[in-house]
Amino acid sequence: MPLHGLAQAVVGVPDVDASSAFYEEFGLTQVSPGCFATLEGGEQLQLVQRRVRGLVEVAIAADDDDDLERVRRAAGANDAFAEDDNGDVVVTEPVLGFRARVTVRPRIDHSLTDALPVNRPGVVARGSERSTAIFPPEAVKPRRLGHLLYATPDIEASSAFFQDVLGFQLSDRVPGLIEFVRCSTDHHNIGLVSSPVPFLHHTSWQVDDVDQIGHGAMRLLATDPTCNVWGLGRHFLGSNYFWYLREPAGNYVEYFADLDQIAEDAEWLAQSWEPEKALFAWGPPVPPEFLEPVDIDELSRAYATSVEA
Ligand SMILES: [Fe+2]
Repeated sequence: MPLHGLAQAVVGVPDVDASSAFYEEFGLTQVSPGCFATLEGGEQLQLVQRRVRGLVEVAIAADDDDDLERVRRAAGANDAFAEDDNGDVVVTEPVLGFRARVTVRPRIDHSLTDALPVNRPGVVARGSERSTAIFPPEAVKPRRLGHLLYATPDIEASSAFFQDVLGFQLSDRVPGLIEFVRCSTDHHNIGLVSSPVPFLHHTSWQVDDVDQIGHGAMRLLATDPTCNVWGLGRHFLGSNYFWYLREPAGNYVEYFADLDQIAEDAEWLAQSWEPEKALFAWGPPVPPEFLEPVDIDELSRAYATSVEA
């Protein structure tokens, strides 16, 4: 598989300073105004000022120039608009119109940390000791950007773009409702959900384990209890633990851990699932806001204006 993950998301927000304060509290490191780094993935979030929130660009990491050439050819064969920019290939997503930038980047080499010892029936893993998981860490620092999910009025066209032009593979789907595609060993690097109004649903950031998710979310909720969206829970598709929070612009931001991994040579069967599997295996009830953001009317007006233009 020539691509190997998301390199960066460029996200439009009305108030860069307000959103920046959230992402810093979330655990990303601001390296210059509006530009944020993860622990191991480098500069992976760029906030830019826009009147209405939304995805501006997603950068996808490739191994070498051969991969870029393959994308150029696939774009030509599929009537997708592609241009060279600074050594990268930039292709326009056909439904929402954001840029997908394919760029050569080194693969992330994760530094390994020991898993916390976990007692279970018949197994005492940590002797007569308290778990260190009860103590909040000094900081929860996401290791990398894992995926993003966006709502599209034409899920077939958006999914075909990622598969046919960029070379992603389908991992799982609920027909007509949601599709998960990958360009790495992650179960999904892009998620697509069907909606008459397009919008960026969430970006998702990997932390080590479920305790880091809990501590990270609790830290944000201590600052602003109203930023809670949905969590703690475990998804069915992808199997990951999740907790979603809302940054001031309205974009959701997810901590994730323990996502399914699919080896490049694995015989993974992309399956079609019933709608009840689209959301979760367990967790609190799905809040209506998760399915329809509170700013959907504003997003709808912005979309109508862009379609007329
Ligand atoms: Fe997610």
